Amino acid sequence: MARSPRLAQGLDRNAAHFTASVFFDWRLLPYDIAGSMAHITMLAEQNIVTQEAKEQILAGLEQVRQEWEQGTLTPRVEWEDVHMNVEGRLGEIIGPISGVLHTARSRNDQVAVDMHLYMLDVAERLKSLLYAYIKALTDRAEQDFGVIIPGYTHMQAAQPILLSHHWLAYKSMAIRDFERLQQWQQRTNLSPLGAGALSGTPYPTDPARTASLLGLSSVYDNSVDAVSDRDFLLEFLAWAAITMVHLSRLAEELVLWSSVEFGYVRISDAYSTGSSIMPQKRNPDVAELTRGKAGRVIGRLQGLLTTMKGLPLAYDSDMQEDKEAVFDVVDTMDGVLTVVPGMLNTLEVNRERIARRIGQDYTAATDLADILVQNGMTFREAHHLVGMLVTELEKHGKGFGDADPDWLHTVAPKIQPEWLRMLTPERLVAKRLQPMGTAPERVTEQIQATRRWLAEH
Ligand code: ARG
Repeated sequence: MARSPRLAQGLDRNAAHFTASVFFDWRLLPYDIAGSMAHITMLAEQNIVTQEAKEQILAGLEQVRQEWEQGTLTPRVEWEDVHMNVEGRLGEIIGPISGVLHTARSRNDQVAVDMHLYMLDVAERLKSLLYAYIKALTDRAEQDFGVIIPGYTHMQAAQPILLSHHWLAYKSMAIRDFERLQQWQQRTNLSPLGAGALSGTPYPTDPARTASLLGLSSVYDNSVDAVSDRDFLLEFLAWAAITMVHLSRLAEELVLWSSVEFGYVRISDAYSTGSSIMPQKRNPDVAELTRGKAGRVIGRLQGLLTTMKGLPLAYDSDMQEDKEAVFDVVDTMDGVLTVVPGMLNTLEVNRERIARRIGQDYTAATDLADILVQNGMTFREAHHLVGMLVTELEKHGKGFGDADPDWLHTVAPKIQPEWLRMLTPERLVAKRLQPMGTAPERVTEQIQATRRWLAEH
């Protein structure tokens, strides 16, 4: 393709490499072709170009698409980006008639429609991966039903909860992530094609028609906004950042829980790596990298927000920076969501270790205070008395269950020994029967509701 006559001198070689996006926007090619096919079809319908031109261009575009698919098409840096590469190659195949394709269009509305189409496809794939993750959490909740762990606040053992309840908390986050992405799809399902460079076009085009040919449900209502808008990408990155924060919190717990100190779970060999020096090591790499990649995704969001914040309307070349940010996040999310369900499915829960552990803490303290309240004490008074008892028990290395009745009578005469015997983790959990509580009945309902959700999605 000839360089614009406005630019007498050839582009500096380094400048050409610096400005080109073809090395990273290549993945947009099938979407670019779909956009061009819809555009030329509409132009012919509106009698802006001839039937003959349309036929030749459609056939030529199809050939370019096939060459891309077969890997025989090579990106040419002198053609700068994927759009010019398609047009350049089309020119080689069908000759000068290819020149009518760009009538009533600019790369500004073209790249925007490519990104909408690509991202809507990406969202479908990420939703199916999230679905598998939600299913893995639900399967875990079913499989580990009955296991009681100490729930934590401030990373200190707080109150006993069902391990299933803990898994299902991550399920709730993941369902929100899934639904957020679905809502994002609805907002992103619109076409900027027809905005031209920024002002619309003087040709009698039909943007609603190109939109419908592309399967998009509406068109932007303002041409300047249509080519300036990257909200859909920022919103996607924000979605990804939030989703990664959730996955990272789970990953952190798996790292912690698989340590020798906790020993609650064993991550399968298939998801662990060894050390090059320490023969005993089984490192939770998959979990660690999931946690690590959250930082990268959050950084990409920061990066694009910063790129966009000072840009005057309408299109600016700075916006080409959206691609590497978004593509990197798409690939990262894809990678993480592909491995995490398998790691969960193959996780081994060490029931004995957890059962031994739950007896050795004072996570029943709130419930003991509640019993004192039922027997006429104010909650503050009960809180004080139980705190004092825990301090005394701790001095002797004892749990609530080990307190000798005579000793208890001297230390805390208002506390009946049989009350302490009622404080089993099973009983404490079973009492949390109110909505959203950790009682087995409520947790079973959550599992059933999630199974229904899975059947409907
Ligand atoms: N490669 C460009 C991008 O990714 C396409 C749009 C270029 N438009 C322009 N007027 N230079 O943003």
